[in-house]
Amino acid sequence: MDMTKELAFPPHFVWGAATAAYQIEGAVYEDGRGESIWDRFSATPSKVRNDESGTIACDHYHRYKDDVALMAELGLRAYRFSIAWPRIIPKGRGGINDQGLDFYDRLVDELLKHGIEPYATLYHWDLPQALEDEGGWLNRDTVDAFADYAGIVVRRLGDRVHSWITQNEPQVVSWMGYGWGKHAPGRTGQANAIAAAHHVLLAHGRATDVIRRESPGAQVGITLNMTPIYPASDSAEDAAAAKLVDGTGNRWFADPVFRGEYPADILELYEEHAPPIRNGDMRIISTPIDFLGLNNYSRNVVRADPASGRPAHVRVEDAEYTDMDWEVYPEGLHDLLVRVHRDYAPNRIYVTENGSSFRDVRMHDGSVQDPERQRYLEGYLAACSSAIGEGVPLAGYFVWSLLDNFEWAHGYWMRFGIVYVDYRTLERVPKESARWYSDLIKQQPNVAMHG
Ligand code: FCB
Repeated sequence: MDMTKELAFPPHFVWGAATAAYQIEGAVYEDGRGESIWDRFSATPSKVRNDESGTIACDHYHRYKDDVALMAELGLRAYRFSIAWPRIIPKGRGGINDQGLDFYDRLVDELLKHGIEPYATLYHWDLPQALEDEGGWLNRDTVDAFADYAGIVVRRLGDRVHSWITQNEPQVVSWMGYGWGKHAPGRTGQANAIAAAHHVLLAHGRATDVIRRESPGAQVGITLNMTPIYPASDSAEDAAAAKLVDGTGNRWFADPVFRGEYPADILELYEEHAPPIRNGDMRIISTPIDFLGLNNYSRNVVRADPASGRPAHVRVEDAEYTDMDWEVYPEGLHDLLVRVHRDYAPNRIYVTENGSSFRDVRMHDGSVQDPERQRYLEGYLAACSSAIGEGVPLAGYFVWSLLDNFEWAHGYWMRFGIVYVDYRTLERVPKESARWYSDLIKQQPNVAMHG
C-alpha cells in the first residue's frame, strides 16, 4: 500500500461521524424510556470502571440541536446514530412510547435541516431489560420482538431516513455480552455466545426484510467489526492459529451473512455447541443487503501456543498503541477492505466506525491538541483511499466518534471523540483533529444527498 499518494475519494463519498444512543444520550429516566441492559449492568458494582454509567453521558438527548449545529459547522455530510429500543418500546415488546419516537423524529428533522444525511442503527447494544429477563438474545422470541421494533421505527422515520443498519457488531454483542461477560448483560459461556450470535444474525435478516417492506428504496446493511489477523511468522502452525482466530472473529459472522453458512472449520471447533439453527434460518440471515458496514480499529497478530493449545495474541514491539492498547496499523484496514471485497463482494462498503482514544487534555487556552488522533485518521483514511484505488467499492467513512462518550466497561476514561466533552460542564470543544477532519471534508466535492 502506497501511503504517500494523495488522498483520493470519489465524488459521492459519504463523510460522517458516528455515535450510539447509550453512549451519548443520557436522560435514561425521561419521557417514558424503559430500562436497558446497560442501565442494569452499569448499576451493578464493579462492572464498569469507577461504576460509571450512561445516566447523563453527554446529555445529547437535551442538547441534540447544539450537537447537530456543531456537526454542520464541521461540515459533516452524514451522521450515524443509534436508536434506543427501550425508548421506543420500554418493555421490548407491546406498548409503544410515542415520546421516544418523537425524539428521533426531531433529531432526523434537525439533521435534514442542516443537510446532514441520517444513517440509523437499530441495535447498538441497549436491549430492553424486560427482554433480557426472558433470556435476551438467548431467547429466539427476541428475534420477533426486534423485527416488530424495526417495523415501528421505520414506519415513523422511513420517509426521511434512507440508510439503515440493523445490528452493530454481532461478535461483540454475543461474545462480550454473553460469552465473556465483560459487557451487558454479563452472561458467560461458549454455548451462550454461539446462541446469542445466531439470534442476533437472524434478527438482522428479519429486520432487513421488514425495512425493505416498510420503506422501499431504503438501503439496508449490517455493521460487522472485523479485525485483520496476521500470523506472527510464516510457520504452518502460526498460519493455522491465524486462520482459527479469523474464523471465530470474522468468518463466523461474515460467512452466514454473505454465504448463508457458518464456516465448517469453526463449526467443527465448537463441536457440541452447535448454533440453534432452524429450517430457513440461514436463508433469512443471508437475505441480500445493500451494503456492509465495517468497524475497524486495529489488527491482531497471533501465534500458535503449544502450551495452551490455543492461538496467542502477540504484542508487536516498537509499534504505536492507543489508550485501548490497540495497535495503530492503518495497513490493516486496507488489507481488510481488499479481503472483504475479494471474499464476500458486498455491493458497497462503509467504514461505519474507525478512530482512536488518547488521553486528551485541555490546554490553558481552552484548546485540545490531539496530534496522535490526527495522525491516526490520516493513516486510516490513506488506507481507505488506496483500497478504493484498487477497486474496493468503499462508499463512505464515519469517524468514531463525534463526541467523547461513555466507552462501555471503560466508562468515561477512554476519549474517542473528535470533539472533547468536559463532563463537569458538558461543554463541547472541537479537538484539533476535528478541525483537520473538517478541512479535509470541505475540500471534497459535495454532491447532493439522497432523495
Ligand atoms: C466499537 C463500538 C462503539 C465504540 C467503539 C470504540 O466496538 O461499536 O460503540 O465503543 O468500539
